[in-house]
Amino acid sequence: MRDPFNPVPVTGADESLARPRVSPHPYATLLAEREAARAGATAPRRDTLLYLNAVSKSFDGFKAINGLSLVLAKGEMRAIIGPNGAGKTTMMDIITGKTRPDAGEIFFDGETDLTRHDEAEIAAMGIGRKFQKPTVFENHSVEDNLRLALAGRRGVFATLLHRESAADRARLGEILELTRLGPKRASAAADLSHGQKQWLEIGMLLAQDPQLLLVDEPVAGMTDAETEETARLLRDIARTRSVVVVEHDMHFVRELGVKVTCLHEGAVLAEGPLDAVSADPKVVEVYLGR
Ligand SMILES: Nc1ncnc2c1ncn2[C@@H]1O[C@H](COP(=O)(O)OP(=O)(O)O)[C@@H](O)[C@H]1O
Ligand SMILES: [Mg+2]
Repeated sequence: MRDPFNPVPVTGADESLARPRVSPHPYATLLAEREAARAGATAPRRDTLLYLNAVSKSFDGFKAINGLSLVLAKGEMRAIIGPNGAGKTTMMDIITGKTRPDAGEIFFDGETDLTRHDEAEIAAMGIGRKFQKPTVFENHSVEDNLRLALAGRRGVFATLLHRESAADRARLGEILELTRLGPKRASAAADLSHGQKQWLEIGMLLAQDPQLLLVDEPVAGMTDAETEETARLLRDIARTRSVVVVEHDMHFVRELGVKVTCLHEGAVLAEGPLDAVSADPKVVEVYLGR
C-alpha cells in the first residue's frame, strides 16, 4: 500500500499535461485508497448477475446445501444437474428467498444482498421462478392467462376494466410467439398439452420481465418433440435475460449447449462443458452410485 502522506505523482504524459501540477491533499489520497480497497473487495462479483459464496443450509442437522459457491454472469444460461437430493431445488428456494440460508453470501446483479430480502421483494427485483407443476388458470384462454400475468400487480378487477394499451398488445404478441402458443391463443389452458402448459407458464413469468429466470425440471413429462422445442425456447429467452435451468434429461441439457454445473450433497461437484462434466469420474460415480 502506498504511503498516503507521500503521494506518488500523477503518471502518464497526457494526464500530467492536462492536470494542474498540484499534489493531492494527503487526506484525499487516503480516501481514494479506501475507495479502491472497497471496490477491490467487490470486484469478483461486480459483473455477475448471481453470486453465491459458501452458502449452507441444514434441515434438522442435515446439510442440504453445504458450502455451495456458484457464479452466473450477466446474460448467461446455466444448466444444473445432479442426482436426486443433491440440493438443486433447495438452491432455488434459497435464491428466491423461500428458504433462508444458515451461512454464506448471495448477491444479485453484483450488489443486492438477497439474504436481506423476502420472497416478494426478490420476485419484484426481477427474479422469476417456474415450479415443476404448472399453475395456469385452466378455464381461461391462453391469452387471458398472459393478460393477467402482464397486468401483474394491477389486480384482477382492475385488469378486467383496464383498456389494453398498444404496448401491452405488442408484448402479448411477442410472448405468444416466443412460447409457440400463437395458434392456441384462444384455447382454454385446460385444452393445452402438458408441454404447452409449461410454455404458457414460462410466458406468464416472462410477462413480469424478469432479469433472471429459474426453471426446475421443465421437461419432465414432455414428449421428445416438446423437449427439443423447450430447449429452443429457453435459448431464445436467454438472448435477453439470464436463465438457470435444473434438469435431469441429458439429451435436453445437450440441446441447451451451455455450461453445466453438477451438484452433489449440496455443493458443486464439477462444472464446465457437458462433455467434460459427464466424463468426470466424480460425476460418473455419483450417477452410477444411485
Ligand atoms: N424443507 C425441507 N425440510 C427437510 N429437508 C429438506 C427440505 N427441503 C429439502 N430437504 C432435503 O434436502 C435435500 C436436498 O433436496 P432437494 O433440494 O429437493 O434436492 P434435488 O432438487 O437436487 O433433488 C434432500 O435430502 C431433501 O430431503
Ligand atoms: Mg428438485
